[in-house]
Formats: sequence, C-alpha cells, structure tokens
Amino acid sequence: MSFENIIVETRNRVGLITLHRPQALNALNDALVDEVGKALDAFEADENIGAIVITGSAKAFAAGADIGAMAEFSYMDAYKGDYITRNWERVKTCRKPVIAAVAGYALGGGCELAMMCDMIIAADSAKFGQPEIKLGVLPGAGGTQRLPRAIGKAKAMDMCLTARMMNADEAERSGLVARVVPADRLLDEAMSVATTISGFSLPVVMMIKESVNRAFESSLNEGLLFERRVFHSAFALQDQKEGMAAFVAKRKADFRHL
Ligand code: HXC
Repeated sequence: MSFENIIVETRNRVGLITLHRPQALNALNDALVDEVGKALDAFEADENIGAIVITGSAKAFAAGADIGAMAEFSYMDAYKGDYITRNWERVKTCRKPVIAAVAGYALGGGCELAMMCDMIIAADSAKFGQPEIKLGVLPGAGGTQRLPRAIGKAKAMDMCLTARMMNADEAERSGLVARVVPADRLLDEAMSVATTISGFSLPVVMMIKESVNRAFESSLNEGLLFERRVFHSAFALQDQKEGMAAFVAKRKADFRHL
C-alpha cells in the first residue's frame, strides 16, 4: 500500500504511522486522515500487530485540521459532507490500542487526534492547544468533550476559551498525557510501551481498552457490571490458562493471543 501523507512501518508486533506533511506542519486534510484510516484498517486486520503508534515530526504532531481546506466551507459542505465524522472517527473505532507519540505542536484537530488515541506519550517539547476560537470556530473533533474528561472543566475552559497552549509538564500534571520524556527519546519510549503491550494477550488488551473506555460512557455500577462480565469471559481464553500456569511454574508466559 502506498501513501502520500503518512509513512507506515511495522516493527515486531507494533504498527507505526508517522504523519508526514512537513510543509504544512502535518495539517490534517482529508487525504491524510483517509490514509490514517486505511493504515489502521490494515493493522487491525493483521494478526501479527498488537499495538499501534501514531507520531508526527519533531516540530509538530499536527498543527490542526487543514485551515485552507475548510476556509471556504459552507454549512452544507460541512453538514452533508459529514465533515470530521466521515473519516476521523476511524481512530476511535480501532479496537487495538493506539498510542499517540507527540512532539511539538498538537493543536486543534491535532490535539483532538491525540486525544482519540488510548494514551498520549509526550516529548518535553510538546505543546497542546485548542486555538479554534481564534479562527472563529470551535473544536469539532472532541476538544470540548474529551479535554474536560481528561483535565477537568477549569483547564478545558481555559484552553478552549483563551487558546493558550499547555506545555508537556502541565499536560502531564493535568492528566492529559501518560508520560513525558526528552524529545530525542520520544519514539523509543512510545515503541517500547507499544512493544510491551503487544507482548500481552491481544484479546485481553482489547478487553481492557473496551472496559476503560466504558468508564466514560456509563454510571459506575453499569461500568463495574460490564467489567465483571468481561472479566468472567477472560476465563474462556487459552491465554488465561497460560498466564496463570506460567506464574505458578515461575516462568514467562507465552501468550498466543487466543
Ligand atoms: C493549514 C497550516 C496549519 C493548519 C500550519 N500550517 N498550521 N496549514 N492548516 N492548521 C502551515 C502554515 O500555513 C505554513 O505554510 C506552514 O504550515 C508552517 O507554519 P508557520 O505558521 O509558518 O510556522 P510557525 O511560525 O512555526 O507557527 C507554527 C504554528 C502556526 C503556531 C503551529 O502554524 C499556527 O498557529 N498554525 C495554526 C494552528 C491552528 O489554528 N490550529 C487549529 C486549526 S482548526 P506556508 O505555506 O505559509 O509555509 C482545527 C479545527 C479542528 O484544527 C476541527 C475538527 C478537526
């Protein structure tokens, strides 16, 4: 498969997608987002892939949706064309874990793309922001919804209403990112996390992702019930037998993803 706006690689059991529109700081146009979707389709279908990393360049993860591409949109272009939903949601529907490795700018749709992933690992150079208000619009790919769930109302309002950027340390303190590392270690760290995850039982990894995401969609009791049912179902897995037998025998588990 050949791509023009992204670079796609496979390393061990990890699929790596590098956003690559350097002339526009990885601004997210339809062609790029479509390609990300196709790469995710291929990684999901590949039994040898257990986790996915999405990254950008040292200067920008992505500086937002492509402003030039939407500047002249009419309401009908946006509404009838199902702008955003038609292709961006593919990241959300991916059942394998997706890690965003963010260096430099993650603004507007770039910040929202990172938040659609399951975990953000940031370089110390990362800058997060929702500056749409400066363009006379508002976040349209989850910024007003995922940001408050990640960092709370006070900081989400601050970012969306003032357009100020948040650096990596503040993002980690606030709960937006899982880890911050020196910029030159970003990809190694993200690949190492993804490799660790991809060594575990894939069905269990998927169950955990689904269960954690359920916490954002349900009451505590509904979520706990969902978790309990999925937990019970884990006893149907060969990997559960292997994982526990390996612990008892004091050896490393050899998960077969079954
Ligand atoms: C299109 C963009 C772009 C964008 C940067 N570029 N961001 N093109 N859409 N979002 C282009 C610039 O036009 C320029 O092209 C080149 O990338 C380099 O950018 P510069 O501005 O020259 O770089 P710099 O001075 O270092 O400033 C970096 C920056 C700034 C602070 C990130 O580019 C910036 O403010 N960008 C826009 C950020 C933004 O508003 N994002 C939200 C977009 S709206 P040329 O050809 O001039 O060299 C959005 C809506 C989401 O995301 C809704 C749902 C998805």
